This record gives sequence, structure tokens and C-alpha cells, in this order.
Amino acid sequence: MSLRRQKAEWEELGNMDPYWAILADPKRKFGKWNIGEFFTVGDQEIRKVMESTMHLGYPLGRELALDFGCGVGRLTRALAMHFRQCYGVDISESMVAKARELNGSFPNCTFFVNAEENLHLFPDNCFDMIYTNLVLQHLPRKSTIRSYISEFVRTLKQNGLLIFQLLSYIPVRNRLQPRRRLYALLRTLGINERFLYERLGLHPLGINFICPDDVLALLNKTGAKVLRVEVDPNFVSSIRSRIYCVTK
Ligand SMILES: C[S@@+](CC[C@H](N)C(=O)[O-])C[C@H]1O[C@@H](n2cnc3c(N)ncnc32)[C@H](O)[C@@H]1O
Repeated sequence: MSLRRQKAEWEELGNMDPYWAILADPKRKFGKWNIGEFFTVGDQEIRKVMESTMHLGYPLGRELALDFGCGVGRLTRALAMHFRQCYGVDISESMVAKARELNGSFPNCTFFVNAEENLHLFPDNCFDMIYTNLVLQHLPRKSTIRSYISEFVRTLKQNGLLIFQLLSYIPVRNRLQPRRRLYALLRTLGINERFLYERLGLHPLGINFICPDDVLALLNKTGAKVLRVEVDPNFVSSIRSRIYCVTK
């Protein structure tokens, strides 16, 4: 699937049900997330992440952080409490528009739309910390996931900290993703996205994975130093996820 098509799908999700598209709790579908609670979950996540940075001993600086695939800025604003500035980057204009609207009281957050398979909008060695959760797992092409991981390492400062979550295994029975395929097919036939989502319960969210050995080989090739690889405790099903902590 092209990046243009992926962008279009995230625009649709950002317009129809952004909070559920970000945290897909079935009880909160169709606009049922309480926004205060939604942001509190993000604060809790980043509090734990920042505690873990103390054990890791990185990042050494606290100037600039990046939240990749920031959605409506749930984690960007939480990270911004720990850094002088925090950038949020997302492929979707509808998500970024909401992020700007919802985070006006966080002046050290800046949001960017980037619909490229790279992060050329940022120079080498500029981020003290890069964080991304629930993003790489949704990219349909493994080559795109690899490209972003290399870009994270390129844009990370020496002695910075990169933390990324990525699925490490999807059982064969879960790889077909019929709802996603049917949604894509019916959209190409011109059927309205709200009808598909609200009436037929279809959506474009898909998942992808890369096995840890391949991720470690890639990181090794980029010259990054892997500090820790954790089993992601948020995935208790047969779908498995890892959290990679990296410096350079
Ligand atoms: C499940 S949401 C997670 C949002 C955020 N990380 C959070 O946890 O609150 C995934 C986000 O990744 C964004 N995204 C998807 N593909 C992307 C890409 N290629 N580049 C940047 N953002 C992307 C989507 O638009 C969406 O906002």
C-alpha cells in the first residue's frame, strides 16, 4: 500500500474517531473516550518511561524530544514536561490539527505533518530523546518501518535515547486482517468511510511486525548501541510486542 493511501486512511480515522484510532479500546469506540482520561493514560505512560531512563542513564541532555506518530499529542505533551522542547510528527493532517487545538496550553510543543518515508525535515544528531509507541506496528510495509528506525538513529544525538515499540510476532491466523481488507476494497469502490465505520464496523487499522533478530541486525548496522529490549507488558494476547531502548 502506498504512503498516500496510508495517509488518506489516517485522515479518515482522525476525522471519524481519533481517540479510538489511537487507543483502540472497544468500549471507547464511536467517540466514547473521556478526553481527560485519555490524556491521563498518556501522562502515566511517560512517567514510567522517564523513570526507566534513570536506570538506563540516558539521555544525557534534556533539550529536544521527538514523539513520532504523535496523533493528537497524547504523549507529546507528557514528554514536553521533561524537555525544554518537544516535537510531535504525524502523517495525518487531521490528527495534527487536533493536536494543535488540544495542546495550545503547552507552548513548548510543536507539531509537524510529515508524509515521507524519512525524517529529512530534521538534521542529524538533533534529538536528545525519540519516543514512539503504537505507530510502527501500523505501517503496512516492513521497508518503511526499517527506514524510520534508521532515521531515528540518524537524528538521535550522541548519548541520546531512542525508545520504540514494535510488534515482534503476529500469529498466522491474525495476519489476514479481513476487516481492514474489506474496508480498503469498499473505499476504492467509493463507499463512504463513515458508513463503513459506523454502520458496518469496518476500519482501516492494520498491524505488522518485524522479528527482534532483524531489528537488532538493523540497529547494529546503523551503529546504534542497544541498551535493553523488553517484552511489552501491554500485549497479553498471542500477538507479541517488544520495546527497544537504544543510544548512540
Ligand atoms: C495508534 S496512533 C498512536 C498515536 C500516539 N503515538 C499515541 O500513542 O498517542 C498511530 C499514529 O501514527 C500516525 N502514523 C501512521 N503512519 C505514520 C507515518 N508513516 N508517519 C508518521 N505518523 C504516522 C497516525 O496518523 C496516528 O496518529
